Amino acid sequence: MRRKLAAGNWKMNGTATALAELETLAAAGAQAQTDVLICPPSTLISRAAAISGSVAIGGQDCHANASGAHTGDISAEMLKDAGASHVILGHSERREDHGEADADVRSKATAAWSAGLISVICVGESLAEREADNTLDIIGGQLAGSIPDEATGENLVVAYEPIWAIGTGKVPTMSQIGEVHDFMRTQLEMRFGEGVGRSVRLLYGGSVKPSNATEIFAVSNVDGALVGGASLKAADFSAIITALDAA
Ligand code: 13P
Repeated sequence: MRRKLAAGNWKMNGTATALAELETLAAAGAQAQTDVLICPPSTLISRAAAISGSVAIGGQDCHANASGAHTGDISAEMLKDAGASHVILGHSERREDHGEADADVRSKATAAWSAGLISVICVGESLAEREADNTLDIIGGQLAGSIPDEATGENLVVAYEPIWAIGTGKVPTMSQIGEVHDFMRTQLEMRFGEGVGRSVRLLYGGSVKPSNATEIFAVSNVDGALVGGASLKAADFSAIITALDAA
């Protein structure tokens, strides 16, 4: 059985005062069936890790190299050293804002694994790709290109985040989510074998809220969520965690 995962991506939000939200989540204690992860901005990782209790802490990106002349970048070793156990890679905002291609994401995942971090690799289609009926081709290509060969159920989480659903309040239909998640499961099983393919957790992300969480978590092969805006407030994120744990 796959443990469920509720992951919060704070993106470029939060200064020290935001740690109070994490403290509230930490005070709730461990969940029966659900792992909880918060990925704050890197400036908060070490302070977050010091107070997070059973909540895991992750980065939002890392460089593919362990160290070197890369001004402004952060390596997987540095994230690990600061207290992170996970790192989000290939988020559509990184792919769009920083021109990251599948090959970059793959190199970063290899670096993350070398440092002992779990990679949360993101894939997702644009609205134009969805409307052109290309969604499964796009997702299949991103999975093939972004995930290194050494993937296991322990070192990899995949997040399906349709770009048009991020921060927009628009959510795909449950059958659209199910179609992509079933497809991703099959792709992983075909490439890595049934054992590994069945053990990788698949998250849905894009406008997940307390009001739609229960419906989304009932969809087949949805093992949790990657949550942006609704992870910034402990009350909202706790409601999502509760819905997932009950699913
Ligand atoms: P929202 O939950 O704000 O739509 O963001 C989703 C996301 O991009 C998480 O990585």
